[in-house]
Amino acid sequence: MELGQPSRTALGAAAHRAVHQVLENGRIFADPLALRILGQDIEAAVRDAENDPSRRRLRLFVAVRTRFAEDALTAAVARGARQLVVLGAGLDTYAYRTTLGENLLIFEVDHPATQAWKQQRLAEAGISVPHTLTFAPVDFERETLRDGLTTAGFDPAQQTFFTWLGVVPYLTERAVFSTLGFVVSLPGGAHVVFDYSNPPASGPVRGDHATAREALAVRVASVGEAFRSHFETGALHAKLTDLGFCEVEDIGPALIRERYFANRGSSLPDAGGHIVRATTV
Ligand SMILES: C[S@@+](CC[C@H](N)C(=O)[O-])C[C@H]1O[C@@H](n2cnc3c(N)ncnc32)[C@H](O)[C@@H]1O
Repeated sequence: MELGQPSRTALGAAAHRAVHQVLENGRIFADPLALRILGQDIEAAVRDAENDPSRRRLRLFVAVRTRFAEDALTAAVARGARQLVVLGAGLDTYAYRTTLGENLLIFEVDHPATQAWKQQRLAEAGISVPHTLTFAPVDFERETLRDGLTTAGFDPAQQTFFTWLGVVPYLTERAVFSTLGFVVSLPGGAHVVFDYSNPPASGPVRGDHATAREALAVRVASVGEAFRSHFETGALHAKLTDLGFCEVEDIGPALIRERYFANRGSSLPDAGGHIVRATTV
């Protein structure tokens, strides 16, 4: 990220969710606050999306990962999760529309510059902050998540669900595994959902997919948020198991198509990303 500046990719992800409400009627992921939190000209965002159809892949992947995470969260709450930590929250709106109230304490963890910008956006959009939400500013590359959450009043003895969407690719491997090590160490038990992509050279990637992926890598690097980590699926699963996760679910392009785009013909989106749910309980 650019020094002292909020994340530009957080704005990009929020724009994808907002445009998804308009162009696909929120078919994969319905978010009644997506347009309000964006705080930008939605018509311009929709025009940009229509003028560049290659954005559809990423937009639908962002919709799928958010839907997958929220469905997994609902299931985890039914299994006893009482805290939610939104890691690298960006303009995520879950905390402002959940109906779980007192049954779920929420911690939004993000880079201090992004978090300050989000709080300003919330105020400008007239979106109220529930008393069950605590903001915890943390730079994952410089501070530990443990320290940031302890300061925020997080209870490690409570079963906790972590969402970590659109963040892992921007971190070093060291920072990624340090965070996962913390998640796995929690005595109350934990669940985590995150997304990642395979290294560019591996796997049978189609030509247009590879080109779109390279273009995205150039775009994010140009705003100071270069991709820093990719993972081979098998090696990542082995590492998660070694760390102590007892259940690992991974949906890659084929499963995402099957689960969310069945009967949609040959123009199925393939952003090349994977979404993982791992749990210790
Ligand atoms: C692509 S955005 C994703 C935001 C949100 N999770 C979503 O899906 O819309 C990446 C997020 O990672 C955060 N991030 C990137 N590097 C970080 C770091 N070193 N420490 C804390 N947060 C970081 C950014 O502030 C931003 O909110």
